[in-house]
Amino acid sequence: MRIRKAVIPAAGLGIRFLPATKALPKEMIPIVDKPTIQYIIEEAVDSGIEDILIITGRDKKAIEDHFDKSRCLEDHLRSKGKQDLLEIVEKTSSLAEIHYIRQKEPRGLGHAVYCARRFVGNEPFAVLLGDDIVSSEVPCLRQMTDLYEEMQASVIGIKEVPPGDVGKYGILDAEPVRDNIYIIRDLVEKPAPEDAPSRLAIMGRYIIEPEIFEILAHTTPGAGGEIQLTDALKVLAAQKPMYGLIFEGDRYDVGDKLGYLKAMVEFALQRPDLAEEFRQYLHDLMTGTR
Ligand code: UTP
Repeated sequence: MRIRKAVIPAAGLGIRFLPATKALPKEMIPIVDKPTIQYIIEEAVDSGIEDILIITGRDKKAIEDHFDKSRCLEDHLRSKGKQDLLEIVEKTSSLAEIHYIRQKEPRGLGHAVYCARRFVGNEPFAVLLGDDIVSSEVPCLRQMTDLYEEMQASVIGIKEVPPGDVGKYGILDAEPVRDNIYIIRDLVEKPAPEDAPSRLAIMGRYIIEPEIFEILAHTTPGAGGEIQLTDALKVLAAQKPMYGLIFEGDRYDVGDKLGYLKAMVEFALQRPDLAEEFRQYLHDLMTGTR
């Protein structure tokens, strides 16, 4: 079965980015000039996804506005002859079939995914978190859908992290199958370094079998008093085969301030219209010649 649907949970409070996220959704914070959620949607579309459900919450209206048609802005750009900007604006509102549903309270990632059950129905689906942006030759999600098509089983996107970082992630207890692919025995959310079964960390990309919804319906709040997706995946992994894929590409944790700054600098250095001047600026700054 092909993966056609994706869910993007975007109802979190973005506490790590206060005060910016007091009124602005975290997902709308731009990397250079594009909101982080747009990178995620482009990755999904480039991976063959046809329908996207964004789980929103209160004060997230800017996300819907961003992907909506803006006739007034388009007319203005047209009348000023700004064709290149007009194309960018038009493309933003026609990227994919985007649907929205509200998570009424931020009860955790597992609960946010559970809100997608009617949209998803009885087929495997993708989940992409806006905190993780991946820059890769083959889109990260495409690498995962390829593996899904081969294995016909849930696939979790992973990276190896330093031992001191395991407490920040969901961590796999897993057995290697072949290069970069692991079969998952168990998962544990944010373990203490001495309890971590490996350094294989979940990186905000999932392809999940629909049985997860039945499990989520009975998942009780776990770490942080929230309904954790990892807890439900743990149950699913005990019932059915589930794989971890170390995907190719550079991953940026843009939900973290330092990760966000790294993404901003590296994405700017990849932009033909900015790279040369920005590289010179960074060089001068670092060598004290500015
Ligand atoms: P995070 O915990 O990283 O997001 O959840 P957050 O809660 O917004 O961030 P901080 O920790 O307060 O800074 C991972 C993803 O799950 C979504 C978030 O929007 C984010 O994309 N999420 C989390 C929900 O949609 N609903 C929730 O109840 C919790």
